[in-house]
Amino acid sequence: MNLLVTGGAGFIGANFVYSQRQQHPQDRIVILDALTYAGNLSTLDALSTDPAVRFVRGDICDAALVAALLRDEHIDAIVHFAAESHVDRSILGPMDFVRTNVVGTATLLEAARAAKIARFLHVSTDEVYGSLEPNDPAFSETHPIQPRSPYSASKAASDHLVLSYFHTYGFPVLLTRCSNNYGPYQFPEKLIPLMVLNAFANQPLPVYGDGMNVRDWIHVSDHCAGLDAVLRRGRIGEVYNLGGMAERPNLDIVRAILALTGRDESLIRYVTDRPGHDRRYAIDCSKAMNELGWTPRVSLEQGLRDTVRWYRENEAWWQRIRSGEYRTWFERNYAARLDTGSGSPAATAKHSGASCA
Ligand code: NAD
Ligand code: TYD
Repeated sequence: MNLLVTGGAGFIGANFVYSQRQQHPQDRIVILDALTYAGNLSTLDALSTDPAVRFVRGDICDAALVAALLRDEHIDAIVHFAAESHVDRSILGPMDFVRTNVVGTATLLEAARAAKIARFLHVSTDEVYGSLEPNDPAFSETHPIQPRSPYSASKAASDHLVLSYFHTYGFPVLLTRCSNNYGPYQFPEKLIPLMVLNAFANQPLPVYGDGMNVRDWIHVSDHCAGLDAVLRRGRIGEVYNLGGMAERPNLDIVRAILALTGRDESLIRYVTDRPGHDRRYAIDCSKAMNELGWTPRVSLEQGLRDTVRWYRENEAWWQRIRSGEYRTWFERNYAARLDTGSGSPAATAKHSGASCA
């Protein structure tokens, strides 16, 4: 199979590419990523000499580039991660979210339909279901779509578009909605890596509101295993929830990180709450478990231990982010290799990427 992975230089996309190379070494992978602030090519460094992986810098909103890639690379299936993914940024500037998450997904769908792609897996989030009260049952796949942040609204719009392509055109889509991920290579703006790095540096840990907002946490390796199961065995046109079966208030996560890093609670700072902050997410993933034989395997306790250790052992990776140096990694290590011929998708990508970042 020839796979196109969009957003493969981001957190979950890169973990997915690594896991696919392990589990399906016969497949070829083309990564399409615009390298926004969240894209980090040094994350993929271990694959830079792998002949079965090709990296193309480009924007999913670039219809000509996407069409050329699907044709020239003989793509069979698409796994679509590329998105603006951080709620706080969506509150500060919603338009980037509309552009990439809605227009970008629509652009990709149109190109994929024209190219008669065999499977289109759209990677979405439990946040499209809205917010739960403490005693509400967990989200099932039939829960109403009630997004409440610009991020989740833009993802909900993309979910609707994806499903409309199945109902209207019979286009072979699959859709997953997953809970909060954590693990290696997560950009340190999200709760867990931010708290880990601040604790390492003895800096304050900013807890929004009363710290009692609840999330379900899944290790990224379990998410990637679920995506693999849906991609290869899922029923076309279906939605599959994926989760870690580990609901915790934020304060429990922060305290666990303080314990794992040997810091005390004096580092906790209660700060002004996020506007419209969703109170609780909880996900019922029994459909994926029963139909696909998938199950999350990493306990939150083990996963947090491993994650803290990963950030401790990979300081060079996150120091490049904190210093901003990772933004020039592409130019220093890859751009010269891509700039090989006019009109090739890679060359096109180099130009279109510039307008997206
Ligand atoms: P991320 O922000 O770490 O990575 C996003 C990647 O997409 C980056 O590499 C970025 O450069 C790329 N990108 C952004 N705009 C692009 C564009 N216009 N064209 C091409 N590439 C572009 O995100 P993540 O946490 O890895 O999330 C990946 C996907 O999974 C997203 O669709 C997100 O909604 C979904 N998801 C995330 C979580 C989570 O907890 N992080 C949970 C459920 C679902
Ligand atoms: P986040 O990692 O941004 O994921 P999401 O908002 O998509 O669930 O945040 C997880 C939870 O942690 C959420 O309830 C907001 C909270 N949070 C803080 O309390 N402090 C922070 O600095 C951040 C980034 C998040």
